[in-house]
Amino acid sequence: MITPIEGFSKLTKEEKINWIAANYTTNPENTKAFLKVYWNSDLQLQKLHDEFIENTISNYYLPLGIAPNFLINNKLYAIPMAIEESSVVAAASKAAKFWLGRGGFKTTVLGTEKVGQVHFIYTGDAKKLERFFILIKPVLFSETAELTASMKKRGGGITKIELRNKTNELANYYQLHCTFETLDAMGANFINSCLEQFAKTLKKEALLFSAFDATEKNIEIVMSILSNYVPNCLVRAEVSCKIEELQENPNISSEKLAQKIVQAVTIAKVEPYRAVTHNKGIMNGIDAVILATGNDFRAIEAGIHAYASRSGSYTSLTDASIENGIFKFWIEIPMALGTVGGLTNLHPLVKIALEILQKPTAEELMQIVAVAGLAQNFAALRSLVTTGIQEGHMKMHLLNILNQLGATETEKEQLTTYFKTHTVTHSAVASAYNKLKND
Ligand code: MEV
Repeated sequence: MITPIEGFSKLTKEEKINWIAANYTTNPENTKAFLKVYWNSDLQLQKLHDEFIENTISNYYLPLGIAPNFLINNKLYAIPMAIEESSVVAAASKAAKFWLGRGGFKTTVLGTEKVGQVHFIYTGDAKKLERFFILIKPVLFSETAELTASMKKRGGGITKIELRNKTNELANYYQLHCTFETLDAMGANFINSCLEQFAKTLKKEALLFSAFDATEKNIEIVMSILSNYVPNCLVRAEVSCKIEELQENPNISSEKLAQKIVQAVTIAKVEPYRAVTHNKGIMNGIDAVILATGNDFRAIEAGIHAYASRSGSYTSLTDASIENGIFKFWIEIPMALGTVGGLTNLHPLVKIALEILQKPTAEELMQIVAVAGLAQNFAALRSLVTTGIQEGHMKMHLLNILNQLGATETEKEQLTTYFKTHTVTHSAVASAYNKLKND
C-alpha cells in the first residue's frame, strides 16, 4: 500500500526518483533508467532545467520544428514551433508557402495594454469611497514610484488606475482596475508588485481618511493579481488574394473554395461546438510558437478563449470575406507576451528560437504568433472543405504508428513508400507491417 510522504521536496533528485519508481511504477529499474536517459549529459545545463521547477525528476522532451517561408509585412521568417502533434508544422509550412506567393501576411498591433486588479471589500457609502479614491490616487502612484522607475525610464509603467464599483455583481465588492505598459516584458512580476503595493497603500490610507467611519476604514483586501484577459493587448493578422489565385487543387474551383472557407468560418461563428475545434486548430499554431519562445501558453490560452466569448457566446477567432473578387482571411487576438525576462533569458532553446525569429520585440512576436494561428486555421479549413483532414493527418501520423509497432528504419522507409499510394489507417499500417515482417 502506498502511504503519504513527508518532506518529498527535501529529498535529493536520486531519492525522489527511487521513491516514485518504487511506489508508483511496476518496473522500478526500468523507470529509473529511463528517467536518467532523458537527463542532459552537460551537468550545468541539467541543473538549469532542474531549477526551473520543483521536485524535478527528469526532462520532458517535445520536438522543436521549423516552419519556414513566412512573409510577414515583407520580412521573411522561419518560425520555431514546439509541439507533439504531427501535421501542425507541415500545415504551417504549407500555408506559409502558399501565401508567400500571394503577398504574404500583413499584421498590425492594435494595442499593448496589460491589466491588473486589486479586489477588495468595502462596506459603506460608495460616494465617500469615490472621494477617497480621488484623494489617494497620487499616493498610489508615488508609493509605487520606486517599483516603476526603471520601466518608466524605458517608456512604460502604470497607465491608469480606476476605481470600479462591482456591488451590482457582488455585495460590497470593489476593484482598483489598473492598466500597464510593460514594453518587451510580459510584465507579470512588475504588475503584481505594483498591485500589492496599491493594496497596502489603499488599506493604510483608508485608516487615515477622517470621513470614513470605523467600518468604512476597514477595507478588506481580497487579492491583488494581474488579469490574463487583455482585450486591449490586441494583434491583427490578415491575408488576401484575388479569388482566382486561391485555387491549387484541380478538384475544386477557386470560387467554390473561397465560398466554402467563408462558410466554414461562418459556421464557427454561430456554432460553439464547431468554434471550439476551429479555435483549437488556431491554438495548435499559437501554442507551439508560445512554447518555443518561452512564453506562458496557459495565460495565452485563457485570455484568447475569454476573448472568443466576449459577445456572450463562444465564437470563431478568425473571419473571412469575399468582396469585389478578393478573398480576405483574418484574425484578431489578444495576447500579453514577453521577449525579455522569465524563461526567455534562461532556456537555451528559447534563446535560439528568439534568435531564429531575429530577436523580435514583444510587439513583433505578437504579430508572428498571430500569423502562426491564422496560417494553421487556413491550412485546416482548406483541407476540411476539400479532401478532409484525415488524408494529410494520417500520412503525417504514419511514422508515429510505425514507431509504436517497433518498425526498424528500413521497414519505415519501405512502408512510407508503400503508403504514398495507399490510404493510411491504423489497421492498414499494422497489417502492411505484419506482412512485411512475414515476407
Ligand atoms: C486538429 O488538431 C485541429 C483541427 O481539428 C482544427 C479544425 O478542425 O479546424 C484540424
